[in-house]
Amino acid sequence: METVTTIRAFQIARRTLKGSVGFVPTMGYLHEGHLSLARLAHTSCDAVVASIFVNPTQFAPTEDLAAYPRNLERDLALLESEGVELVLAPTSNEEFYPADYNTWVDVLGITQRLEGASRPTHFRGVATIVAKLFNVVQPQRAFFGQKDAQQALVIRRLVRDLNFPIELVLGPTIRESDGLAMSSRNAYLTPQQRAAAPVLRRCLDHVEALYDQGERHAETLRSEMTKILQAEPLALPDYVSVADLEAMEELEMVTDKALVSLAVRVGKTRLIDNTILPRGQGLF
Ligand code: PAF
Repeated sequence: METVTTIRAFQIARRTLKGSVGFVPTMGYLHEGHLSLARLAHTSCDAVVASIFVNPTQFAPTEDLAAYPRNLERDLALLESEGVELVLAPTSNEEFYPADYNTWVDVLGITQRLEGASRPTHFRGVATIVAKLFNVVQPQRAFFGQKDAQQALVIRRLVRDLNFPIELVLGPTIRESDGLAMSSRNAYLTPQQRAAAPVLRRCLDHVEALYDQGERHAETLRSEMTKILQAEPLALPDYVSVADLEAMEELEMVTDKALVSLAVRVGKTRLIDNTILPRGQGLF
């Protein structure tokens, strides 16, 4: 595995890769969710490239950029053990954002809701860095996790609207044995908060069960999630949502595929999770 820290060095190394390239963009502090994407990429691509870059522009000034967990040495060892061929891991933010940087990618519409409503500048940062990474890496396929469902939908819009010749592939949310979705931010949880965190998955399990029993009123599904969250003293809900997959607008009735999602603060940590109805359907 070759690791490079500059875009220039990456572009030189990229030329040596033969055949189709699969790309797994990450912000590091890797877990099984990231590694499963690298494995998935190897099933359909000749070579796999990963990036490790804690993208400052997707964090608001009040958010956890400085505290975001980092362990480059461990990350590189994990990627190497997955047979990843090439890693771009810039050591400075200036590599992507030099002092005079002044170009931004704004995906309109779906970025205003849910995560975008709570984090108004977040998706501009995500869309900008993903567009830059796509230009630098030039992969045939790019791999993202369903845990960040709205991010995946934003990137799908970006790929369509800016004509990137890239196929997006979504991997399933990988969970701990008690149902908590894997996330680098889980590292912030104290033992007591960690014990409370599976409440998100319990909400989704309950909604899936209600749907299977025939419940189609979205407001009922939302209020059932709220009730479960209210019973968990350490959980502070940010939103619970049952939305359509195109405009991400809140539904009255679930008549077609729907994204059930929630964001919850457990202590200082903001956790997100989701499921698609009907159960087992893909996001794309
Ligand atoms: O999902 C993430 O880890 C990040 O948002 C991404 C896609 C790597 C962009 O910084």
